[in-house]
Amino acid sequence: MQRTPYLDAEACIGCETCTRICPKVFEMVSEHKAGIHNPTGDTEEKIEEAMDNCPVACITWND
Ligand code: F3S
Repeated sequence: MQRTPYLDAEACIGCETCTRICPKVFEMVSEHKAGIHNPTGDTEEKIEEAMDNCPVACITWND
């Protein structure tokens, strides 16, 4: 089964990087916060690319 991402909205600074890299999974839910609108909307590789580029590393995998 495909792994799903978790986004710690408390830590997110709203840089929008994840939404640019992987818009099928991440979207801005307010001006300074991203959220997950489809956890399996793209490949794990693409999701991992978004994780790796988040400046505060607040996107992780769910168990
Ligand atoms: Fe927030 Fe990181 Fe995305 S700071 S907007 S979760 S790249």
